Amino acid sequence: MCGIVGYFGDKPSEYIILNALKRLEYRGYDSAGISLLNKNGEIFTLKEQGKIINLENNLFKKGKIAFESVCGIGHTRWATHGEPSQANAHPHTDCTNSISVVHNGIIENYSVLKKQLTLKGHKFKSTTDTEVIPHLIEDYWKKSEDILFSVENAIKNLKGAYALGVIIKNKENVLVGVRKGSPLVLGVGDNEFFLASDIPAFLDYTNKVVFLEDNDIVIIKKDHFKIYNTGKEIKRSIKIIKWDASQAKKSGFKHYMLKEINEQPEAILNTISDKVNFENYKISFENSDENFEEIFKDNENILITACGTSWHSSLIGKFLIEALTSLHVEVDYSSELRYREKKIDKNTVIIAVSQSGETADTLEVIKNFRQNSTIISICNVLGSSIPRESNYTIYTHAGPEISVASTKAFTTQVIVFFIFALYLAKLRNEITDKKYKEYIYQLRNFHNDVKNTLTIDSDLKKVAPELSKYSNFLFLGRGINYPVALEGALKLKEISYIHAEGYPGGEMKHGPLALIDENFPAVILLPKDRLYDKMLGNLNEIKSRRGKSIVFTSENNNDDLSNIADYCFKIPEVTSFLQPIIYTIPLQLLSYYIADFKGCDIDQPRNLAKSVTVE
Ligand code: M6R
Repeated sequence: MCGIVGYFGDKPSEYIILNALKRLEYRGYDSAGISLLNKNGEIFTLKEQGKIINLENNLFKKGKIAFESVCGIGHTRWATHGEPSQANAHPHTDCTNSISVVHNGIIENYSVLKKQLTLKGHKFKSTTDTEVIPHLIEDYWKKSEDILFSVENAIKNLKGAYALGVIIKNKENVLVGVRKGSPLVLGVGDNEFFLASDIPAFLDYTNKVVFLEDNDIVIIKKDHFKIYNTGKEIKRSIKIIKWDASQAKKSGFKHYMLKEINEQPEAILNTISDKVNFENYKISFENSDENFEEIFKDNENILITACGTSWHSSLIGKFLIEALTSLHVEVDYSSELRYREKKIDKNTVIIAVSQSGETADTLEVIKNFRQNSTIISICNVLGSSIPRESNYTIYTHAGPEISVASTKAFTTQVIVFFIFALYLAKLRNEITDKKYKEYIYQLRNFHNDVKNTLTIDSDLKKVAPELSKYSNFLFLGRGINYPVALEGALKLKEISYIHAEGYPGGEMKHGPLALIDENFPAVILLPKDRLYDKMLGNLNEIKSRRGKSIVFTSENNNDDLSNIADYCFKIPEVTSFLQPIIYTIPLQLLSYYIADFKGCDIDQPRNLAKSVTVE
């Protein structure tokens, strides 16, 4: 859940590393640090508590950067073992300060290792699990002064997940990367190389990437790199990434979240265009093969697993697949499913949904079930761990999502589910040709509906100051929009720290109605569809208990709601299956403007990180 980077090249390492760390700050932001190696084999290390800006200010303020480095490593931390403090910040070093290590992941057996190393005389300076690594390397280095030997043997002692960047004080300048269970990619530039937890870290410099595999050790020297796996040198191909650097920058927006909300028309268009051929009405998925079709001819059950926002899109996925086919779909939190003693019959296909492709709980579910089930993942990050562990992957093409609060990843996941449900319905002959074509046709211009929905921005910005004074919110939706209510509540609590709950409208009178009074407003999703009257009932119930209401309804709704609703916003009318996307966008904006008015740290909410690679 941290971000690590490494650089080897002719540019000043400290600038490249700081720049790369800033792109990874979404992964953790409670401390940061850097270690640099110069051509005389000396190491300089600086660590600071808090955000990267503290590290940057200190680095330059103290003029420490007269140090001319040839390579270096950096780290931005989300604390797991040991409180956020300068001592616990990475890089961690050995007893002689000759070996410097940055780590993302968890060393499960660190306390046993720490005891053993302490008995041997090693001195520890932090309470982290990571610090055992430089001390282990130190033992092997003393014996051999061989970097590959030392790192390879040191990691044999480790249990858990890790991506490492290592530099060693030595005449020969070398940067080492290790991957096992935590993400690490190698960027290949012109006479320069990058290590990073995620591609956006080095997109400013190169789009050529090597996806390292588990147990890979990469040794980077001037002008070249070599990859070793279980003792042997191996070759890995270099892939060209289509993302460009501007996608990972704020581009004039105040926050990444606002930028990413506004990128949704394009993200949705990219996700659709890649899968739907509007000339022949055919749906196809990259990376699929002839066996892909067969899976859903024989299997009748789907189990979808995900966390957080991806779990919400999965609930919509269930709704869509069950509405368009006769398949039976279950949705389960990965964090629950991984520990449940659940028997899955061999006809169940598992769909794992994840923006980052690194969520530890979801990854663990895949590992638990892949012996007996086909795993399909829906993912945004190319080459991340979840797609690697899956039999098939359907990519959302949302581009890099940097803000901790997920927005465009959610709406592109919903689009994928809609396309996938249509694909299944057609494959299984469960939809008429006419209806199928009608739905495909709806997708052709859907990105424009999304664009039109975004014009609500200024109206929501206006009401945000008034709404930001409440401490609690209820979000109500029904049917396919019930998960939208859950997602709206999650967005609000995550970035504005206001308590919010999502509920299906029909459940109001079974408890939550007791909460409603003039201090407890409700956000009501009121599309003009077959459940309209039911939701209108909820609105009236709230009104009669003096509750405030913020209503979102279809633009073709001519009913005068001004006597019942305190705020009423109209949004584009689309087919009911695509409503969740159109109704989520105003909720994203509403949360954003409330949080912004309150002065919250929107892109990096307290206690959270973007990729949850630990339990
Ligand atoms: O990368 P994933 O989609 O697997 O992440 C799952 C959740 O951690 C994530 O959706 C989280 O809930 C977001 N912060 C919500 O905005």
